[in-house]
Amino acid sequence: MTISPQFVTEPGDDRMASTAERHLWMHFTRHSTYETGQGHVPIIVKGDGPYIWDDQGRRYIDGLSGLFTVQVGHGRKDLAAAAARQAEELAFFPVWSYAHPRAVELAERLAHEAPGDLNRVFFTSGGGEAVESAWKLAKQFFKLTGKPTKHKVISRSLAYHGTPHGALSITGLPGAKEFFEPLVPTGVKVPNTNFYRAPEEYRYDEKAFGLYAAERIREAIEFEGANTVAAVFLEPVQNSGGCFTPPPGYLDRVREICDEYDVLLVADETITAFGRIGEMFAVNRYGVQPDIITCAKGMTSGYAPAGAMIVSDRLFEPFRHGTTSFQHGYTWGGHPVSSAVALENLAIFDREDILAHVRGNEGAFRRTLERLLELPLVGDVRGAGYFCAIELVRDKATRETFDEAESERLLRGYLSKALFDNGLYCRADDRGDPVIQLAPPLICDQSHFDEMEQIVREVLIGAETLL
Ligand SMILES: Cc1ncc(COP(=O)(O)O)c(C=O)c1O
Repeated sequence: MTISPQFVTEPGDDRMASTAERHLWMHFTRHSTYETGQGHVPIIVKGDGPYIWDDQGRRYIDGLSGLFTVQVGHGRKDLAAAAARQAEELAFFPVWSYAHPRAVELAERLAHEAPGDLNRVFFTSGGGEAVESAWKLAKQFFKLTGKPTKHKVISRSLAYHGTPHGALSITGLPGAKEFFEPLVPTGVKVPNTNFYRAPEEYRYDEKAFGLYAAERIREAIEFEGANTVAAVFLEPVQNSGGCFTPPPGYLDRVREICDEYDVLLVADETITAFGRIGEMFAVNRYGVQPDIITCAKGMTSGYAPAGAMIVSDRLFEPFRHGTTSFQHGYTWGGHPVSSAVALENLAIFDREDILAHVRGNEGAFRRTLERLLELPLVGDVRGAGYFCAIELVRDKATRETFDEAESERLLRGYLSKALFDNGLYCRADDRGDPVIQLAPPLICDQSHFDEMEQIVREVLIGAETLL
């Protein structure tokens, strides 16, 4: 074992990166990049507002809010102070048959923000655990209410819902699942709402496309047998594949279908909650009432880990009686420090009117990115709020995408690194068709949008020569 050298901010000093390459197992990371000396692991040492710095002193604009988390920006002393205060007062106590004030206050605040009768909050440490909890709750709820065979879940192609076996089973990315099969064997997939890739007959009618996509859910319920289906899981705006917004009427129709077959509707708002698209919860924007919301990430702006599932009174009802309990929990669920940070984060939302800022600026963000449509590689710009994707195509006229070798050369070989080297941290993703995703901190304004657009533009112009 080697001991980490003291960190030194000296350009050219790559000891920290070398130690990372020797000992740190990075998530979802192709380590061969570093084994074969094709560059060093970027070491991020500092953040301030929408900017981050690496250990070589270089500054980047954070176009992904860390990982869709840092809503109110980096380097906030108010959030750090809230964490320190709570750690001094009560650093840890579980919410297993006991409570502490911050978990109680946060549960009340989340219930207040969630629509309708979503009044019961079950805390987790992150989004995947919230999804896992929601599936287990759905199964137990139906067992307690006389429909014990309802257990399957319907979710959408390409959607990412987390890494625990259940959440991974709900995930619609075969590449993320193949090494862990067999997974929980009752996850059923339906089409997502990528309008840019809609079947030809719906390509010019978004509403008709939405109804088509919703009907695929009905079809899946009927194929599986409604008496076996417990829940539909979907993100109001789907991240993976590149920010697929719900077509008009889609979510209403899904809600109707769920009601008709007594299937629970779970809105996985791990990314979309807490201002990402200008509301505390995206379902508020689209006017749909889910039975469960799962959320995480932006709840604390990333200053401490936290997640939650927020559940309707109807679902909690059978747990109020007799010897029944939900046999499920996490040590870190409702952690006092995370809860205190979340409360302060939401207080910042109030003080600085973060939601209004996003609503007031999302149009400008979108229009700025739409300037990129003049480039030959840019096929589509889409999204909502501060959550946008730029889909890259080989041929704009036909919407033809890249083959495997081109994707490898363009996305994995060039784009991510070139964007970063040019001062923009964001995501170049090809789990569906290739997209660049931008989801900056919610405090960003036009100057930041311009900065991101300029970097993406230069890098995409450079990419044209690679094809
Ligand atoms: C929609 C969605 N669900 C679940 C998860 C998993 O969250 P976590 O990584 O906190 O477990 C993610 C993570 O990005 C997500 O985007």
